[in-house]
Amino acid sequence: MGKFVVANWKMNKTIKEARAFIDEFNAKLPKKCKNWCICAPFTCVFAVFEGLKGAGAVGVQNIYPQEKGAFTGEVSPQMALDAGATWAIIGHSERRNLMGETDEFLAKKVKFALESGLKVIFCVGEKLEEHCRLKTVLKAELKALKGIDLSGVVIAYEPIWAIGTGRVASIEDIKRAHLAIIETIEKQNGVTPVVLYGGSVKSSNAGEIMALDEVGGVLVGGASLNADEFVKLIEIGGKYESK
Ligand code: PGA
Repeated sequence: MGKFVVANWKMNKTIKEARAFIDEFNAKLPKKCKNWCICAPFTCVFAVFEGLKGAGAVGVQNIYPQEKGAFTGEVSPQMALDAGATWAIIGHSERRNLMGETDEFLAKKVKFALESGLKVIFCVGEKLEEHCRLKTVLKAELKALKGIDLSGVVIAYEPIWAIGTGRVASIEDIKRAHLAIIETIEKQNGVTPVVLYGGSVKSSNAGEIMALDEVGGVLVGGASLNADEFVKLIEIGGKYESK
């Protein structure tokens, strides 16, 4: 089925731009490519879902851990599902750092999203100054998943210094971090997780990264905004077997 290739559009694209992307994407994507997801801003989720006509999957980039109520500005998993999303990104470093989301809050979000029927892409990763104690940082972030059934969860390793910087982690770094995540989760949760890599992925470097056994796919920001480039990434992922 190919490795899992996920677009994280972040705060980009109007509905009109999303529709134009989907038209080009649908025309270029080979039918056999199935293991991919587009995580759009909330305002575009339904337009993307409609445009894809059941192909691939649609995701959101955040949820609030309540079904409904007095939570101004927030969106529940039930609302995300209603708009066509089946996946949610939780714990992206931009939300951890810009919105101050804590490990405890993220654990709540993961639990509630899963209970509500969404699948979760849970992000972890170290700051540049934390790189020398990578394993400790990853272990601390992964604690949020303790006691959770991980059947609907994939983990994304995103070194913060590699996000949107054009500075992709080395193959050795990626291997080391993915193995650390796999080992930690095997010990903590008793299952072997699928781990995506994220951070300046583009079609020119994705082949080498997705060829690694420890890499279950990629989470792509900037390069996923271009339909042609995103199709190329999905095609690269399609060359490899997913776990
Ligand atoms: P990037 O973003 O591909 O633009 O580095 C990745 C991400 O933040 O998910």
